[in-house]
Amino acid sequence: MEKSIWFLDQNDMPTHWYNIQADLPVPMPPVLHPGTGKPVTPDDLAPLFPMELIKQEVSTERWIEIPEEVQEIYRTWRPTNLYRARRLEKALDTPAKIFYKYEGTSQAGSHKPNTAVAQAYYNKKEGIKRIATETGAGQWGSALAMGCAFFDIECKVYMVRISYDQKPYRRILMETWGATCVPSPSTETKAGRDMLEKWPDCPGSLGLAISEAVEDALSRDDTHYSLGSVLNHVLLHQTIVGEETRKQMEMADAYPDIIVGCVGGGSNFAGQFLPWIRDKISGKKPDMRIICVEPESCPTITKGAYAYDFGDVAGMTPLLKMYTLGHTFIPPPIHAGGLRYHGMAPIISHLNKLGLVEATAAHQTAIFEAGIKFARTEGIITAPEACHDVKIAIDEAIKCKESGEAKTILIAHSGHGHFDLSSYAKYLSGELTDYSYPEEDVKKAMQDLPKV
Ligand SMILES: Cc1ncc(COP(=O)(O)O)c(C=O)c1O
Repeated sequence: MEKSIWFLDQNDMPTHWYNIQADLPVPMPPVLHPGTGKPVTPDDLAPLFPMELIKQEVSTERWIEIPEEVQEIYRTWRPTNLYRARRLEKALDTPAKIFYKYEGTSQAGSHKPNTAVAQAYYNKKEGIKRIATETGAGQWGSALAMGCAFFDIECKVYMVRISYDQKPYRRILMETWGATCVPSPSTETKAGRDMLEKWPDCPGSLGLAISEAVEDALSRDDTHYSLGSVLNHVLLHQTIVGEETRKQMEMADAYPDIIVGCVGGGSNFAGQFLPWIRDKISGKKPDMRIICVEPESCPTITKGAYAYDFGDVAGMTPLLKMYTLGHTFIPPPIHAGGLRYHGMAPIISHLNKLGLVEATAAHQTAIFEAGIKFARTEGIITAPEACHDVKIAIDEAIKCKESGEAKTILIAHSGHGHFDLSSYAKYLSGELTDYSYPEEDVKKAMQDLPKV
């Protein structure tokens, strides 16, 4: 019998997150205070985050134990399955072996609960009663709404206006889990009001929604801020995905030659590839390729600058050294809402700069074409974000057909697209168009980078 799924028993679920900071060949550049330009201290971050998360942000301990209360909640949907895409392989007539680790079976439909639950837990432990956050496509907002419901914390979500309008059901999910969700820009914060005054129909951006959520958190003692991607502790929590996959690939007697995943802020893909990249760094698997895929319309790594920048539009966050399209970037309203962020996780940016991970970009019509192929062979309706990885995996599998190589390709499949059907409808009716972010706009935005 040819197996297509590798189940991992709950007894074998990893009990520790993997921290890449222990194994980096060159340490990460420091995070800087936006006012002084000096490295931030834990006290600078304390109004926004619980101290345990601040410690994780800078920790160089290799393994960080997952608290039992978090493991208990993980066990409501984890471990997730590893699949072999045999029907896709057959349809492509490729000798490549295509595996995918599927995070769409969490209650919220994506990888985001892996960190949402952990963040809600650490906030609860510190006595926090309310959390403010932003959301793009609504995946993060719904995951945090669920995490907060499990720990009885109030949750306020600023949702990028264009997604709020495109995806009303995501808002209803958040409300069902007990969160309050408003479109961003909103009239509830200065950052939102300032933008609405300048641009009443502003479609919003993740950078702007972050400004609103940070301002909200700073204005109340009972409230912290929570970010669903980019930061080191978020990537750390996602490593449960790659650690499970390592065990499952071993069960399948396989090892990836290529790992491919989409990057918005970088959390799902890092969660998959960080546990593997240690083999590349140590020299055990020097030829393994790790490919980050981003939209042509938001080409942060492929066209952005590697520089210190703010994480938000209003310039309230600390300065992160990362690939950026400039914090003033307002992305075009493409259908992969979760990939419309101007910056990239500092860890991924650093690893790209060191030549350990590569990046490529894809157009939205091509990624939906790949998503349709995946749906018609494997059955899964893939989130538009994850269709980016499927597209590049298919391209690599076709290259294998041409070269006759039987490479092993691992897709970091971050979630289902059940709430993205209006985007599929647009593709199916031929209404979707492609858009490349112009080089001149990137150059213009670079003029607003903070001077460091
Ligand atoms: C399904 C899915 N995949 C990927 C992403 C991109 O985020 P990240 O790069 O942090 O994984 C999102 C963001 O909302 C998402 O919802």
